[in-house]
Amino acid sequence: MASLDLAFVRSNFPAFGLPDYEGQSFFENAGGSFACRQTIDALHRYYTHTKVQPYARYGPSASAGEQMDSSRARWADALGVAVDEVQFGPSTSMNTYVVAKAFGELLGPGDEIIVTNQDHEANSGAIRRMAAATGATLKEWRVDPATGLLDPDRFRALLSEKTRVVSFPHCSNIVGQENPVAELTAAARSVGARTIVDGVSFAPHGLPDVAALGADIYLFSLYKVYSVHQGLMVTRNGILDELPNQGHVFNAGLASKRLTPAGPDHAQEASAGAVLDYVEATAAHHGVQTSTLREAAAATSALWQEHEHEMATPVLELLAGHEGVRLIGPAESVSPNLHRCPTIAFVPRAKTSAEVASELVARGIMCGNGDFYAGRLLEGVDVDLTHGVVRISWVHYTDQADIDRLLGALHEVLDR
Ligand SMILES: Cc1ncc(COP(=O)(O)O)c(C=O)c1O
Repeated sequence: MASLDLAFVRSNFPAFGLPDYEGQSFFENAGGSFACRQTIDALHRYYTHTKVQPYARYGPSASAGEQMDSSRARWADALGVAVDEVQFGPSTSMNTYVVAKAFGELLGPGDEIIVTNQDHEANSGAIRRMAAATGATLKEWRVDPATGLLDPDRFRALLSEKTRVVSFPHCSNIVGQENPVAELTAAARSVGARTIVDGVSFAPHGLPDVAALGADIYLFSLYKVYSVHQGLMVTRNGILDELPNQGHVFNAGLASKRLTPAGPDHAQEASAGAVLDYVEATAAHHGVQTSTLREAAAATSALWQEHEHEMATPVLELLAGHEGVRLIGPAESVSPNLHRCPTIAFVPRAKTSAEVASELVARGIMCGNGDFYAGRLLEGVDVDLTHGVVRISWVHYTDQADIDRLLGALHEVLDR
């Protein structure tokens, strides 16, 4: 397969042509990505032509409803699942909150729930609160304090026939290492436990085959995947029928509404699928023959990951080998089958994280510092929460010039 054509990629992101970003490189993608042209055009089109209540008989309304249905169907195809298994909600935090509430109506004393301390607060807090409210026992699968990694053997040791729900991230927003989701969901399934997987920090780096991952619930945030500000949730393996309805009473029978009580954001749902045009165009541009959207998503994801890996190698080498820095997370992937996402966090030894982040920003590196809502993880790897980490995160549209600017800035800031 050809390698990723960055000129083609960047021509699909209007932000790269704007004076607003001139002389700077964007390294806060884990917070939210730029939107691709297809997403921006779709939103503009919806607001211009079909900004009416959808699903009525008149033309613009019917068209609005069709666009919403199409987004859902196309995302289902891209993720390798059925249409009724895809739901949109206001955000991943909100989707997780509703899921936790629904599980809370089923669980009680004697039941066990497993969460990790590698999670973003969004995936952990609501489930922990639900455990406390129901009297279920909460077990924490803890990261290795030296590496920030989760050990699957420790997970297996926590599982029992009482385990009802397990929640873990596909990838942490600090550590950057993809977890072996299929292996973990199979282990949970073997004791009859349901799985909730937070894919937010992974999906921007590859649109997963969710059926193959085996998760009962898989969530991610479209605004980090070049799309609109919505959360996408996949519910599989009959879990939707098992969980009590959280929506309006008259919507109990509607798969798209049982776990999404908020009224839909019509324009964003209608535009959510447009990013998949970009994904298909990327596969086609690189000469990949695909007959399904799932195949296009897989091919494009492979191109993205290969490029990200190439860009990451010198940065990870620099940070892992620099005596003035503690890199959080691995310098290279723990397995050839798992992606080491370029979400890279480090603690400077001679300066504070805030000082280093400010000095990087002054050199055109758009990045930040703090706990990034992963305070439990930072405590788990013994990072002082008052200072937190510096985080540099990128995606497939980051090019060699961005990486050169980053390497130059890191040398200047860390070597002085
Ligand atoms: C790993 C991870 N999970 C969950 C979330 C929450 O997503 P949302 O902002 O859609 O609620 C974030 C947001 O940054 C995240 O990084």
